Amino acid sequence: MEVKTSLLDNMIGVGDMVLLEPLSEDSFLDNLKKRFDHSEIYTYIGSVVISMNPYRSLPIYTPEKVEEYRNRNFYELSPHIYALADEAYRSLRDQDKDQCILITGESGAGKTEASKLVMSYVAAVCGKGHEVNKVKEQLLQSNPVLEAFGNAKTVRNDNSSRFGKYMDIEFDFKGDPLGGVISNYLLEKSRVVKQPRGERNFHVFYQLLSGASDDTLRKLKLDRDFSKYNYLSLDSAAVNGLDDAANFRTVRNAMQIVGFMEDEVQSVLELVAAVLKLGNIEFKPESRCNGTDESRVKDKNDLKEMCELLGIEQSVLERAFSYRTVEAKMEKVSTTLNVAQAYYARDALAKNLYSRLFSWLVTRINESIQAQTKARHKVMGVLDIYGFEIFENGDNSFEQFIINYCNEKLQQIFIELTLREEQEEYVREGIEWTNIEYFNNAIICDLIENNQNGILAMLDEECLRPGTVTDETFLDKLNTICADHQHFESRLNKNSKFLNDHSLPHNCFRIQHYAGKVLYRVEGFVDKNNDLLYRDLSQAMYKANHSLIKQLFPEGNPAKVNLKRPPTAGFQFRASVGTLMRNLQTKNPNYIRCIKPNDKKASHIFTDSLVCHQVRYLGLMENVRVRRAGYAFRQPYEPCLERYKMLCKRTWPHWKGPAREGVEVLMADLQIPAEEIAYGRSKIFIRNPRTLFFLEEKRKQCLQDLATLIQKIYRGWKCRTHFLLMKKSQIVVAAWYRRYAQQKKYRNIKSATTVVQSYTRGWQARKLLRELKYQKRCEEAVTTIAAFWHGTQVRREYRKFFRANAGKKIYDFTIQRIIQKYFLGLKSNMPSMSPIDKKWPARPYGFLDGVHTELRKIFHHWRCKKYRDQFTEEKKAVYEEKLEASEIFKGKKALYPSSVSQPFKGDYLEISKNPKYQKLNSAVDEKVLLADVVNKINRANGKGTPRIFLLTKKNFVLADQKTGQVKASIPLPDVTSVSVSTQKDGFFALKLKEGSASAVKGDFLLSSEHLIEIITKLHRIGATAADREKLKVDISDEFLVQFKQDKVCVKFIQSSPKNGNSVSCKRKNNRLLEVSVPTSP
Ligand SMILES: Nc1ncnc2c1ncn2[C@@H]1O[C@H](COP(=O)(O)OP(=O)(O)OP(=O)(O)O)[C@@H](O)[C@H]1O
Ligand SMILES: [Mg+2]
Repeated sequence: MEVKTSLLDNMIGVGDMVLLEPLSEDSFLDNLKKRFDHSEIYTYIGSVVISMNPYRSLPIYTPEKVEEYRNRNFYELSPHIYALADEAYRSLRDQDKDQCILITGESGAGKTEASKLVMSYVAAVCGKGHEVNKVKEQLLQSNPVLEAFGNAKTVRNDNSSRFGKYMDIEFDFKGDPLGGVISNYLLEKSRVVKQPRGERNFHVFYQLLSGASDDTLRKLKLDRDFSKYNYLSLDSAAVNGLDDAANFRTVRNAMQIVGFMEDEVQSVLELVAAVLKLGNIEFKPESRCNGTDESRVKDKNDLKEMCELLGIEQSVLERAFSYRTVEAKMEKVSTTLNVAQAYYARDALAKNLYSRLFSWLVTRINESIQAQTKARHKVMGVLDIYGFEIFENGDNSFEQFIINYCNEKLQQIFIELTLREEQEEYVREGIEWTNIEYFNNAIICDLIENNQNGILAMLDEECLRPGTVTDETFLDKLNTICADHQHFESRLNKNSKFLNDHSLPHNCFRIQHYAGKVLYRVEGFVDKNNDLLYRDLSQAMYKANHSLIKQLFPEGNPAKVNLKRPPTAGFQFRASVGTLMRNLQTKNPNYIRCIKPNDKKASHIFTDSLVCHQVRYLGLMENVRVRRAGYAFRQPYEPCLERYKMLCKRTWPHWKGPAREGVEVLMADLQIPAEEIAYGRSKIFIRNPRTLFFLEEKRKQCLQDLATLIQKIYRGWKCRTHFLLMKKSQIVVAAWYRRYAQQKKYRNIKSATTVVQSYTRGWQARKLLRELKYQKRCEEAVTTIAAFWHGTQVRREYRKFFRANAGKKIYDFTIQRIIQKYFLGLKSNMPSMSPIDKKWPARPYGFLDGVHTELRKIFHHWRCKKYRDQFTEEKKAVYEEKLEASEIFKGKKALYPSSVSQPFKGDYLEISKNPKYQKLNSAVDEKVLLADVVNKINRANGKGTPRIFLLTKKNFVLADQKTGQVKASIPLPDVTSVSVSTQKDGFFALKLKEGSASAVKGDFLLSSEHLIEIITKLHRIGATAADREKLKVDISDEFLVQFKQDKVCVKFIQSSPKNGNSVSCKRKNNRLLEVSVPTSP
């Protein structure tokens, strides 16, 4: 269920001043203060919202708050600016009534902030969608742009609006925003050239210098240093809490969103830069021959840069600062300007340039944000205009006069509209209306704006009058014409009352505004009203090669020279205020009255006197009184009945009939006097706040009683529910417990039964086992007895056969078994297959001896055969040779063992392959069996000469080792024997058949490292040849060798190793050669 709350709930002080009781200025201020101290900055006077500036950010503008106030009745929630915005938006959307939101208050009271809050609230609650969001964004982003160019820091407000702004937001029938139109009112342009102490020029200058990139500044020919520019006040250039650089970025971004083109932004910045440059142009006097002074530009650099920026020809502008051309009736008169006039011209140009730029910006924004459709639309206007302004030291000038005039008009419209609205409501509701006295400021408005003798009219008259016109002549005029006006005061007034008033200087006049007395200094009034820009300057500007500048000075176009004076500033302003007022009167007004709590821009400070002053001049007390003169409180019947129905038994808890009747019954039941209430068509009106409080009090009591009742019923219900729950729980618990107990008991019985059962079964089983065992034993006994009995019988029958044959059979069987076992054992214990392996398993029984030895032999032969079978024919021949060598030399010659391991290579010289021996090879026709180098021992000295020894099947050849020349070729049949020693030497003698042809030269004594091989080969050839005898091999340490005719004995002796390790042969005498062979160590 939706919770209905009311402004009357949890109220701090009184949320609506109309309900203040008693009503006095003190109680009014107390209430404001109390609420302000509790951060309640909004208070109502009926439908008017009073807003106190908190000077700090409060957490009351969150999206949640927006949701809270959305679609709620005005008085439903505590006072808030959102309630007013919501009310205005809903009545625009649902009742098709154009709205305007009038925000008033003095400078720094929070008008601009309030206007932004209203706009952001409306943006948040109205329709959504891509297009709509774009429109919203553009409307909201127009604010930063206008604030940068139109706001400045003043002593009262760091972000003071120096122009008036009225913005119409247009909506379609659904309440979606379509676009907007902004109107601006009189920018305070004098600020461009001069700022009061402690104040700044417009924000944009500082933002540009602080925030623009170096590159941009270079292009604009600007320097970041503020002090370089005469137009920038320096004492307050930096403002606390204001980040100019960041704001510059915001502004550029906003311009982009609003739809400014990049070149437009650039042009705008160029103009801003030009204004700064203009301020730096200075003049010096130059005497002319006719005795007058003429001004000249002092340092032309700034002028040059400015002209470059704006595309103006320097000489044209320079001339415009020195001469003035006056045109009258087809005549042109050119006069020179003195230095003061040149400065005046310069400042006038700067002011015009800036203010026209500002107006152009507004027009440009309007182009972007204007509604794209011509369809009928509803309008919500938001007016944020400069606040009422008074300088205490009497420094108020033309600007303040204009500003205050505007506020005066707004106050008037406020008075008119509030009273009219109040009156209209009574008429609408059919209730009688009684008139109320209030201060009507129409008289002050008249003093200023009257067409005949109003101050503005007189100022215009004075400006247009021929002859010398000064501010003093204007004051004189005022003094004569307004002398009798009760709100006009002047020292020179004929009215003697001010003659001695020293607070009123002679060059001033004072107006009693609705908001207080303001002293205006007349100095500058005429000038500012005239707002003259010499035509030469506007023509110079028109000639600029800069599209924006050209647009801003259309009057400079020589083709459109207009000799008529342009309308004065005052006239223009009066006209635009008039239009604004007419516009506002067609709309349903909503008021926000802003109040400034202190002069220090500080939070938490509430200066009574300051607030009291504002309350007075804003006429807030009168507002309350007017509101209360009729009926203090009004409310539609439905919410009223909803709120108070508990006060009467007949309406509580439900009233079935129409709400109005319900309320009537309710009031009758409560015995409210008839004069205290009036029944309108849709609302009940309560005359006195006391009655309302009485109702509230009753409601509070009743709510307490109701709360007690609800509490009682609730507690009863709670206890009962609790009891029932406990009871239900107890049953569940008991059931569970019983089940558990029974389960436990059952498990006990079951386990006991199992035990008893197992014992019984065990006993039975054991009994059965015993019986079965007994039975088995009986059966076994019977079988045994039967077996014995059968055995006995069989034995008895077979005894006669058994004795004769059994012994031999058993013996045969046993022997068989033993032999079988022996063979199997042998099989698993076989020695290796190597023929030299001597191992052979031991025999198990003596009687197997013969078999065992025989088996060993067979096995050895078999494995030797296996071994031999692996040999190829060549290998076999080699082994045969080796075998033959062994037969010849084994145990006979000491050299033999060392030759066993050396393979018989035969051709050691590779005679067939070696080209060296090609000739030799061809000399031998047979296949060479052996080729080696041997030493032929010389008989004369026992020394050896190396010779090639070739052996073929038929002969052996000795050849020269170097030349290969054959020295001797001996047919083998001529070799009868060969002699060798028993020792380790390689000496051998080949003995030839006596009488043969070969034997002529005698035997050969040779030595070779391959002695064993040579002799074996010779022996083999002899053995295989059928035509020859076997070669005889003599092995002895002394043999004879036939050298030609002589026989020489060759004797081998053993020498000790110390005489050298080699075999040496020495000739001992003619018949003896001694070969000493070292014994091996
Ligand atoms: N509701 C608010 N919450 C927080 N701060 C606020 C609020 N209203 C105003 N202020 C503060 O007060 C300052 C002045 O407010 P604002 O600029 O709205 O005054 P103004 O009435 O428009 O003055 P002027 O007439 O000089 O333009 C703001 O800059 C802001 O710091
Ligand atoms: Mg403002």
